[in-house]
Amino acid sequence: MSTPATADLVAIGQHYYLPVYRPREVILERGQGSRLWDRDGREYVDFAAGIAVCGLGHNDPDLVAALTEQAGKLWHTSNVFYSEPPLRLAEELVSASRFAARVFLCNSGAEANEAAIKLIRKWAAAQGRGPERRVVVTFRGSFHGRTLAAVTATAQPKYHEGYEPLPGGFRYVDFNDIAQLQEAMAAGDVAAVMVEPVQGEGGVMPAAEGFLEAVRELCDRHDALFALDEIQCGMGRTGTLFAHWQDGVVPDIVTLAKALGGGFPIGALLAGPKVAEVMQFGAHGSTFGGNPLAAAVARAALRKLSSPEIAANVERQSAAIRAGLAAINDELGVFSTIRGRGLMLGAALAEGHCGKAGEILDLAAKRGLLLLQAGPDVLRFVPALNIGDDDVTEGLRRLEAALREFMGK
Ligand SMILES: Cc1ncc(COP(=O)(O)O)c(C=O)c1O
Repeated sequence: MSTPATADLVAIGQHYYLPVYRPREVILERGQGSRLWDRDGREYVDFAAGIAVCGLGHNDPDLVAALTEQAGKLWHTSNVFYSEPPLRLAEELVSASRFAARVFLCNSGAEANEAAIKLIRKWAAAQGRGPERRVVVTFRGSFHGRTLAAVTATAQPKYHEGYEPLPGGFRYVDFNDIAQLQEAMAAGDVAAVMVEPVQGEGGVMPAAEGFLEAVRELCDRHDALFALDEIQCGMGRTGTLFAHWQDGVVPDIVTLAKALGGGFPIGALLAGPKVAEVMQFGAHGSTFGGNPLAAAVARAALRKLSSPEIAANVERQSAAIRAGLAAINDELGVFSTIRGRGLMLGAALAEGHCGKAGEILDLAAKRGLLLLQAGPDVLRFVPALNIGDDDVTEGLRRLEAALREFMGK
């Protein structure tokens, strides 16, 4: 049989996949570090890392070793029986987190947030609060996942349309607006505030200085839980293992996924002492949650992502990308702001170019750069945390070329 053409394979996706995605028409075949190759042999610099997932790049030897070693031993037990990798992972996550007492392992970000929302509700119920006093407050521009409760927590109407009736008990306020939050909590019916320390999908928007501290304070005042969604911004991405360490706050709940498995699907809910005993036998579950393969890889990823070398590289490459973007902007004037923390950076398009992020991504891919957008107006940079100098330089060179073409220069 002759090798099918890339276009033929793309056609399969277009015909058979539920058309909820619109992938760029390349078929990626292999990766090494921050470079990828498609099946036609074209090479790409990877500034996307599988949407902030491949924190250690592609084909990391320690992750491959952890996976293959476990693959030869045991793949799955369900939670009816113990296996060692998830036990160790739970212990290591609690210790690394500096706040958690217990862990619930699952398979994705949405599932981790779904567990968080259920935990919040159960905690409020255990306090004797009726359903009308179990409100979860989230912030406009947030993204918490696609399951029905997580998508309702996601305070962006475009993700809700057509999925009504949505679960009740959610309230939305503007991000970084503490006065609005105060008002939203005044009635005393709020069970939790859930927040991304850096909003990802909503345009790479960091919490303002002091904002998380103020949220924590309001939660304490109104006897509400303080839950952080670190699914995108956690696991070293902002320069510390947990993003909220930079804000000087202690949460009650943290959710993780994405980089936790370095590319192998896994999610986790970390529960602080206040909520660790709330969910008892039968209260929640997941067949695949705590899968030994996923846990073995996550243990290796966690060890490496916690290292000072990774933190130092995040700082170094963050500065390099920021400087590169600023230099491009000096010449082309294509961005209005460059923002973010560590290796979670966003370049907002200047007026006149708004809505064109997708077009720029196409041009970048054509020139061998894999890039993301965060909404139609923001280019998002979330490369591997161990990305090297050469990859950053080459990626920025390709970006500049793509932007020149975009600007017709
Ligand atoms: C902050 C945040 N929370 C939750 C999710 C949902 O994660 P998943 O796609 O693994 O369900 C995402 C995914 O982009 C995210 O960025």
